[in-house]
Amino acid sequence: MPPMQLQDILFGQGFGARRVCAGLVQQGRVSVAGAACIDPLAEFEPEGLHLRVEGLEGRTGLREGGLDWVCHLSALIMLNKPAGYECSQKPSAWPSVYTLLPLPLRQRPAQGKKGATAGVQAVGRLDQDTTGLLLLTDDGQLIHKLASPRHKVSKVYEVGLKHPVPSPAEASFVQRLLDGVVLDDDPHPVRAAACELLTPQHLRLTLTDGKYHQVKRMVAAVGNRVETLHRSRIGALQLPDDLAPGQWRWLEVADRALLGL
Ligand code: URA
Repeated sequence: MPPMQLQDILFGQGFGARRVCAGLVQQGRVSVAGAACIDPLAEFEPEGLHLRVEGLEGRTGLREGGLDWVCHLSALIMLNKPAGYECSQKPSAWPSVYTLLPLPLRQRPAQGKKGATAGVQAVGRLDQDTTGLLLLTDDGQLIHKLASPRHKVSKVYEVGLKHPVPSPAEASFVQRLLDGVVLDDDPHPVRAAACELLTPQHLRLTLTDGKYHQVKRMVAAVGNRVETLHRSRIGALQLPDDLAPGQWRWLEVADRALLGL
């Protein structure tokens, strides 16, 4: 990737119009790799560049005055989704998960499309009351690759069941989910790729497709009810223990490898 002007790098990362980005630099609000830079035309290699941008209150929606930023030409992040958030840009009843992200991630310009705003988008959706691992990216091909049922990327869910499964029924309960159950609107049975009852009320379910409310409907189809639902893994990528609910981070090279990217 050839070097780019700082104002263009900031623009491409979603810090606002080029003129706004040039202003941030001229006002001394931007440090590059730890050193202040007040020339918007100064050139840097963008990928992996560390920036600190000060004085963004109100525009990023964050309370702190500055934002430490690592530049990535294509954004791929993970979020530990808390309960009580919808995965929609225009939520109907609950706040949107996108409000948990800094504005640059939400208003990144669409690559190759002048003036269009793309921002990151969730790779598939989790229900409002579901918690756990959610990936978001601004790369349409990646969304397709990770979300399309054809690619069979596995997703692991920790399911809290309303009714304890009595031990004599455990094996048949698990077997029914592995064999496949019919969901109301779909003639083809959907099956779990893997299924384990860890305790009478804790089911671990692995799916490779992602139909609407699939876990809840599968559990209902075998006569139980989901009380809590948490996604712990996508592919071989586990939700890190140190990522608190509501926090996000970039995917590292090693994380991408765990997703087969
Ligand atoms: N299945 C569900 O029922 N809900 C989710 O949020 C994800 C999978």
